[in-house]
Amino acid sequence: MQAQEAVEGLREEILRLKSERDAVILAHNYQVPQVQDVADFVGDSLGLARRAAETDSGRILFCGVHFMAETASIVSPDKRVLIPDPEAGCSLSSSITAGELREWKGRHPGAAAVGYVNTTADVKAELDYCCTSSNAVDVVNAIPGDREILFLPDMFLGSYVARVTGRKNIRVWAGECHVHAGITPEDVTSKIRSMPGAQFLIHPECSCTTPMLDAAAAGAYGGAGTAAGGMRVLSTEGMMRHAASAAQGSRFVVATETGILYRMRRQNPGKTFAPASEEAECKYMKMITPEKVRDSLLHDRHEVRVPPATASKARLAIRRMLEIG
Ligand code: 13P
Ligand code: SF4
Repeated sequence: MQAQEAVEGLREEILRLKSERDAVILAHNYQVPQVQDVADFVGDSLGLARRAAETDSGRILFCGVHFMAETASIVSPDKRVLIPDPEAGCSLSSSITAGELREWKGRHPGAAAVGYVNTTADVKAELDYCCTSSNAVDVVNAIPGDREILFLPDMFLGSYVARVTGRKNIRVWAGECHVHAGITPEDVTSKIRSMPGAQFLIHPECSCTTPMLDAAAAGAYGGAGTAAGGMRVLSTEGMMRHAASAAQGSRFVVATETGILYRMRRQNPGKTFAPASEEAECKYMKMITPEKVRDSLLHDRHEVRVPPATASKARLAIRRMLEIG
């Protein structure tokens, strides 16, 4: 009871500070429940970048990882962007540096550099196009077919995009997210077998995306209405939309970070959601706690600033991302 009162007291304090500081709280779908509960908007990378660009508030408190807060600062340069913990990084965004990208581009003059939003601002400044998991296919389709593409940094998203677009001239950087790479075909297969009739939602960063698509195409996991019939590769917000539109009583196996299950279950009573792997937790996303949210607002601390020269170069690629898809 006392613990519940403390949680409620912290929540009220955050909401009071948020209004005193003229702040909007944006939270990624992987945030812990108590952080999602105080947010003005919870969504995927694309939705969060859009909200950051549109907000009228003077401050953006970004509950997600560092590259996401940088993106918010780039699209809203006149706002003060805060992150509750500046150490909240991302293994995928760390897998390529701006120097490595410049060197790669140097070996492929004329190629278009397409980078996932999970990259640092320095890397984004080197890109022609930025994309998220929800519009990567549309972004690649918007590039003339005869232009070579350097896709970075996620190799599983890259190979999924190459497969869907049918392009042969895509070179893919060998980066990965430790969380999604760790969701194995064995995890998924055993979960699907334990939930007959369940639909299967998979994030394109998962290492099991290609093997699962191959297996489904070869007729594995049964027919329509089972996982093969209901397999969908989606961004986190695409998963939310798909779950919302499904019939009452639907069941889902969800292959992404487990934080998304809180919102899925809350918004869809009467439907069942199971993680493909209980281990799929992003330690960086989980570094953002309600206490750090409160302290960031209280002390107005941990501002994320991108140097203006870097921001103006990165903005071009981000603008293309926001316009497409
Ligand atoms: P979404 O854009 O689908 O939310 O994914 C972001 C991310 O970090 C996935 O790990
Ligand atoms: Fe980065 Fe992976 Fe965490 Fe997403 S889940 S923020 S890609 S480390």
